[in-house]
Amino acid sequence: MEDAEKQQTDITEARIIKNGPLMIRGKFLLRESTGEIGEKNGEIYLCRCGKSSNKPFCDDTHKKVDFIG
Ligand code: FES
Repeated sequence: MEDAEKQQTDITEARIIKNGPLMIRGKFLLRESTGEIGEKNGEIYLCRCGKSSNKPFCDDTHKKVDFIG
Protein backbone atom coordinates (compact mmCIF):
# COMPACT_ATOMS: atom_id res chain seq x y z
CA MET A 1 0.00 0.00 0.00
CA GLU A 2 2.78 2.39 0.90
CA ASP A 3 4.49 1.79 -2.47
CA ALA A 4 1.22 2.44 -4.31
CA GLU A 5 0.73 5.73 -2.45
CA LYS A 6 4.31 6.77 -3.18
CA GLN A 7 3.86 5.92 -6.85
CA GLN A 8 0.75 8.09 -7.01
CA THR A 9 2.54 11.10 -5.54
CA ASP A 10 5.38 10.66 -8.07
CA ILE A 11 2.97 10.99 -10.98
CA THR A 12 2.41 14.43 -12.48
CA GLU A 13 -1.26 15.06 -13.12
CA ALA A 14 -2.64 17.13 -16.00
CA ARG A 15 -6.35 17.79 -15.62
CA ILE A 16 -8.62 19.56 -18.06
CA ILE A 17 -11.13 21.49 -15.99
CA LYS A 18 -14.52 21.67 -17.66
CA ASN A 19 -15.07 25.16 -19.12
CA GLY A 20 -11.80 26.25 -17.51
CA PRO A 21 -8.05 25.93 -17.47
CA LEU A 22 -5.62 23.02 -17.70
CA MET A 23 -4.32 22.19 -14.24
CA ILE A 24 -0.88 20.61 -13.87
CA ARG A 25 0.02 19.22 -10.47
CA GLY A 26 3.29 17.59 -9.48
CA LYS A 27 6.90 17.96 -10.47
CA PHE A 28 7.56 19.20 -14.00
CA LEU A 29 9.75 21.41 -16.18
CA LEU A 30 8.26 24.63 -17.54
CA ARG A 31 9.95 26.02 -20.64
CA GLU A 32 9.15 29.74 -21.11
CA SER A 33 8.79 31.28 -24.58
CA THR A 34 12.19 32.87 -23.91
CA GLY A 35 13.71 29.40 -23.69
CA GLU A 36 14.24 29.67 -19.95
CA ILE A 37 13.48 26.40 -18.18
CA GLY A 38 12.29 26.23 -14.61
CA GLU A 39 11.75 23.15 -12.48
CA LYS A 40 8.36 23.37 -10.79
CA ASN A 41 6.85 21.34 -8.03
CA GLY A 42 3.29 22.25 -7.24
CA GLU A 43 0.20 23.28 -9.11
CA ILE A 44 -0.33 25.66 -12.04
CA TYR A 45 -3.37 26.55 -14.16
CA LEU A 46 -2.88 27.19 -17.87
CA CYS A 47 -5.41 29.20 -19.85
CA ARG A 48 -7.47 27.31 -22.45
CA CYS A 49 -9.92 30.07 -23.32
CA GLY A 50 -7.31 32.42 -24.80
CA LYS A 51 -8.61 35.48 -22.93
CA SER A 52 -6.30 35.59 -19.89
CA SER A 53 -4.36 38.81 -19.33
CA ASN A 54 -1.62 36.71 -17.77
CA LYS A 55 -0.97 34.06 -20.45
CA PRO A 56 -0.11 31.30 -20.36
CA PHE A 57 -1.66 31.27 -16.90
CA CYS A 58 -5.35 31.39 -16.12
CA ASP A 59 -6.62 34.56 -14.45
CA ASP A 60 -10.27 33.43 -14.20
CA THR A 61 -11.35 35.50 -17.21
CA HIS A 62 -12.90 32.29 -18.63
CA LYS A 63 -15.73 32.78 -16.12
CA LYS A 64 -16.52 36.24 -17.52
CA VAL A 65 -16.46 35.14 -21.16
CA ASP A 66 -18.53 31.99 -20.56
CA PHE A 67 -15.85 29.75 -22.04
CA ILE A 68 -17.16 26.34 -23.06
CA GLY A 69 -14.62 23.66 -23.61
S1 FES B 1 -8.96 29.44 -18.95
FE1 FES B 1 -9.02 30.79 -17.31
S2 FES B 1 -8.60 32.70 -18.19
FE2 FES B 1 -8.53 31.35 -19.85
